[in-house]
Order: sequence, then C-alpha cells, then structure tokens
Amino acid sequence: MGRAFCTVKTVPLPGVPVQWYQFALGEREGGVLIGDLALEVNDAKPSMAELGFTLAPEYQGNGYGLEAVRGLLGYAFGTLHLRRLTAVTDALNYSAALLLDRVGMRREAYFQENIFFKGAWGERVCFRDTGSGMGSWVRGRTGSADDPIRAWDT
Ligand SMILES: CC(C)(COP(=O)(O)OP(=O)(O)OC[C@H]1O[C@@H](n2cnc3c(N)ncnc32)[C@H](O)[C@@H]1OP(=O)(O)O)[C@@H](O)C(=O)NCCC(=O)NCCS
Repeated sequence: MGRAFCTVKTVPLPGVPVQWYQFALGEREGGVLIGDLALEVNDAKPSMAELGFTLAPEYQGNGYGLEAVRGLLGYAFGTLHLRRLTAVTDALNYSAALLLDRVGMRREAYFQENIFFKGAWGERVCFRDTGSGMGSWVRGRTGSADDPIRAWDT
C-alpha cells in the first residue's frame, strides 16, 4: 500500500468542465497535508483534462509525487473515464518533467516563449497520456542539468 493518499476537499465534483478541481494530498499515516493535485476538465471536450501537482518542499524527493500522480491518472482514466490527459511544465522544471516521464506520459509539444515568469519569457513542455499504457519515448532520460528537456527538440 502506498504512503500517500488523496482526498476530496472542495466542491463541486471532480470531472466538471472548466473548473480546476483541487485534491488535497496527505500522508496516509497521520494525514498531514503535504501537497495538492489538480484536474481541469476541458469545457468543449469533456473527455479531456489537464492535470497539475505540487508538493510542499519538505516532502519532495520521497516518491510522493510519483505515487500521487499515478493515482490521479488511475482515477481520471478508471473512474472518470477520461480519454486524454495533458500536463504542461516549465521546460526548466526537471523534477516535474522527470516525474511525468516516470508515470509514462509522453512529450508531444514544446512551446517557446510561452510564459512570462519572474521577469522573463520561458519555454514549456506539454505531456500527454491517452491511457494506452505505451509509456514515454524518452523514458531513461535523466532530467538532470546536463540532459535539458530542450535537447529533444532538435
Ligand atoms: C515536481 C514535484 C511534484 C516532484 O515531487 P517528488 O515527490 O519530489 O517527485 P517523485 O515522486 O518523482 O520523487 C522524486 C525522488 O524521490 C525518489 N523516490 C521515489 N520513490 C521513493 C520512495 N519510496 N522513497 C524514497 N524516495 C523515493 C525518486 O527516486 C526521486 O529521486 P531522484 O529524482 O533523485 O531519482 C515536486 O518537485 C514539486 O512539487 N515541485 C514544485 C511544484 C511543481 O513544479 N509542480 C509541477 C508543475 S507542472
């Protein structure tokens, strides 16, 4: 059994289009709040959704993110019966990209000058999962500083 769990904390129900639904993420033992997951179902295409995730800094690096996002994928495909999930991350956010690789999401788009953040234009990478279980074609990448995400976009 995993060490983290997800619990529903807000209304309305997950799966309702055009609303980011927040899931509180807590440790299974003790229930300490350690982060959150988010899911936004597409209004025009309700079988599609974007996901997000954040762990409190002191709980990062323990595998909680991996377990939580795997759980969210299972819930979105298995319970909500969604068809396609995406996640978008800053191209320099190696830990998030590595996590998305590890859960088997595939990189399908690279957006240049896509976000203005902390005074500069940044690049973002879009991942997707269609529940096919094919996994990522970039599995095995390290995600470290010498293996920048942008390297695949040649
Ligand atoms: C991105 C983020 C969620 C990753 O969370 P995380 O829990 O640290 O990620 P993981 O679950 O992949 O675990 C990372 C490390 O824990 C290790 N780990 C995995 N399972 C483990 C276990 N059972 N016990 C101990 N360590 C474990 C992994 O090996 C990995 O270490 P490595 O990278 O040195 O190999 C987190 O860094 C975060 O919240 N960042 C800020 C917000 C953010 O960027 N959100 C994403 C926006 S798109």
